[in-house]
Amino acid sequence: MPSPSRGAPALTWEIQDGIAVVVLDCKDQPVNTISRAVKDEFRACFETLANDANVKAVAFFSGKPENFIAGADIEEFVKLTSAAEAERLSADGQDMLDQVARFPKPVAAGIQGACLGGGFEFALACSYRVASNHPKTQIGLPEIQLGILPGAGGCQRLPRLVGARAALDMILAGKAERAEKAFRLGMVDELVPPPILRSITIAAARRMAGGWRPKRRGRGFIGWLLDGNPLGRMLVYRGARKQLEDKTGGNYPAPFAALEAVEYGLRHGMSEGLKREAQLFGQLAVTDVSRKLVQIFFATNALKKDRGVDGAPAPVAVQRLGIVGSGFMGSGIAGTAVAQATVDVRMKDSDLARVAGGLRAAREILDDRLKRRRITKYEHARLVALLSGSDSYAGFWRAELTIEAVFEELSVKQQVLREFEGAVPDGAAFASNTSTIPITSIAEAARVPERVIGMHFFSPVAKMPLLEVIPGERTAPGVVSTAVGFGRRMGKTVIVVKDSPGFWVNRILAPYANEIGHLMAEGASIETIDGMAVRFGFPVGPVTLLDEVGLDVAEKVAHVMLAAYGDRLQPTAGVAALVKAGRLGRKSGRGFYEYSGGKKRGVDASAYELLGVHPNGGPRPAEVLQRLVLGILNEAARAVGEGVVRSPRDGDIGAIFGFGFPPFRGGPLRHADDLGAARLVADLERLAERLGPRFAPCEVLQDLARRNAKFYP
Ligand code: 3HC
Ligand code: NAI
Repeated sequence: MPSPSRGAPALTWEIQDGIAVVVLDCKDQPVNTISRAVKDEFRACFETLANDANVKAVAFFSGKPENFIAGADIEEFVKLTSAAEAERLSADGQDMLDQVARFPKPVAAGIQGACLGGGFEFALACSYRVASNHPKTQIGLPEIQLGILPGAGGCQRLPRLVGARAALDMILAGKAERAEKAFRLGMVDELVPPPILRSITIAAARRMAGGWRPKRRGRGFIGWLLDGNPLGRMLVYRGARKQLEDKTGGNYPAPFAALEAVEYGLRHGMSEGLKREAQLFGQLAVTDVSRKLVQIFFATNALKKDRGVDGAPAPVAVQRLGIVGSGFMGSGIAGTAVAQATVDVRMKDSDLARVAGGLRAAREILDDRLKRRRITKYEHARLVALLSGSDSYAGFWRAELTIEAVFEELSVKQQVLREFEGAVPDGAAFASNTSTIPITSIAEAARVPERVIGMHFFSPVAKMPLLEVIPGERTAPGVVSTAVGFGRRMGKTVIVVKDSPGFWVNRILAPYANEIGHLMAEGASIETIDGMAVRFGFPVGPVTLLDEVGLDVAEKVAHVMLAAYGDRLQPTAGVAALVKAGRLGRKSGRGFYEYSGGKKRGVDASAYELLGVHPNGGPRPAEVLQRLVLGILNEAARAVGEGVVRSPRDGDIGAIFGFGFPPFRGGPLRHADDLGAARLVADLERLAERLGPRFAPCEVLQDLARRNAKFYP
């Protein structure tokens, strides 16, 4: 039976032997979302079913095999203009779910695919939840990631189901869990394989109609001790608040508000809790932070569909990947490709011992996933078997894509390319993971330069979310879409950038990294420099970042930047001194900081001596920050003017995912828009006057200032 709403109904149902089987399928949409129109349909549907004496219980499913409900319709709430309006929207959603929770007949939900945000809040309002262990099933409350909180009762129902501590763990991290973990945590009542999801859910609805009530596991004495009593809960809240302060630096209001909504609700009862939750949702939904995080969500989604060049053919489906150079990056790429894209990987290096080392390192990525229970023992064994290696190109002819990660020298890379083309005359796409060498120069050695492209991964490959894809002058569009498509299958956010020195990320990082040297020479301490950057919202400061990247790698990149762009990007002289002394950063146990047992221990004061500087105050902290940030903004604007990225959107996403530019600021170009080009130009001119031409505002900013224009419309 169709629902009574007009147009293509999202909700339909049929009654089978006393059980109303309701199916939600938002037509012409890739995922189910709860919009105002869908809410109206829910209301009408549940009202009809409540009044239908033939209906004894409800079994609810999604009509989309890989998506349950992705949550409230994000497009709808970004249009809200006032907190009061947003509060009403939240209260309205709560009301609708209250109708489900108070429904006079039992409701069982059969969950498969993403069950997120408002989708999980709906499931929480049902009497019983069955989840399938389909790989696409993920269950959770990711609202925090959008700068809001679960505003349809999630802050009230989840802690009542799984306890305050587990609920806060989920809500404050905005985490989604796979079905197995959701079951272990008690978020769902039953875990089943996909083929029997429907029958088991209907059977549960039928059992409940017959009077059976689910018995939920108690959380035992330990559970009571932890958060089942007011004192335990107070400790949980205190611990959570402290963690949030450390983690967010006060830059993100949503997790604090969510904590308050949970705490308030458990103290004052469900209905007061719901009121507070809606109020807080209202306040958050119209904050600038939330707007920025939502923009990032949409930008990342848009990038997922982008083939990298207009009109490019569909990517070749890579099933076998070749990797030349099984060192640090090659093995990282291999392990990640297997883990994420389940492809056959063939590695080659100059001798078998190195190949073995690479295979071992690649396997460690899989071991780590097993340890974190992201994959089962069975999957682990299957994935490990996909890794193989040799000291020849045997087997490379079968690979649709080969990535080289050999030493960073043009002659070596060209040699490898020649060897590859010699051994695999009909070889497909060939990508270089170079961090500094122009792709077009590498491709000069190729018989078929159209197949050569850059795929610049960041280290450590398994953890860093960004990939820069760099077409050379003659790269074929199909090779671009194949590299982009495969990068995405590896779980990366991919931007396509111009073949110019430093590409995008290293280019705009250069002034930021170089400023460290100038600041230290003026007496700034490492703690001040890093501290101010962290306060701005970077996950780590620039000095720590250099230590993480490796000072040798950073030094090499810095010199390429100097050669390409001249004095404006003069590197920090001291880094060379540290490298000479064997201090390469974390990987050697010492850089600017000291490391032991895998942990950063604090500034190694002897770094100052090697650099010939004294930390005796230096510029005011506000100036330290201004110099660090404006350097990035100025260089980013200049690079946008040169077409290094295809749009400001790609530039911002690249900076956020490439080196952690604070997401709540939307990226360097959004941030430049917020500050205003005129103000930026004036600030840069003042700095240039005092500190030299490296701060001279670029033409792009000056032009924007003259026209009173922005990067984004
Ligand atoms: N609202 C509006 N559009 C949404 C959406 C949502 N909640 N979730 C996904 N979409 C859209 C995407 O923008 C994209 O649109 P497009 O095709 O026009 O670009 C399309 O659905 C497909 O999305 P993906 O490309 O991301 O598809 P994937 O299969 O890769 O991922 C997903 C699916 C895991 C559901 C992912 O889209 C996702 O994480 N969505 C957001 C989930 C979320 O944050 N939910 C919370 C919403 S806020 C809320 O519920 C508030 C409540 O507490 C009151
Ligand atoms: P590495 O020194 O760990 O590995 C290089 C590997 O290539 C070695 O195993 C070496 O034996 C092998 N090799 C050298 N010549 C070869 C040849 N002719 N045939 C087959 N194998 C050969 O170096 P790393 O750090 O993995 O870097 C590799 C590439 O990745 C470089 O181009 C580097 O610029 C780039 N890169 C490095 C990053 C980093 O942080 N280390 C980040 C991004 C890119």
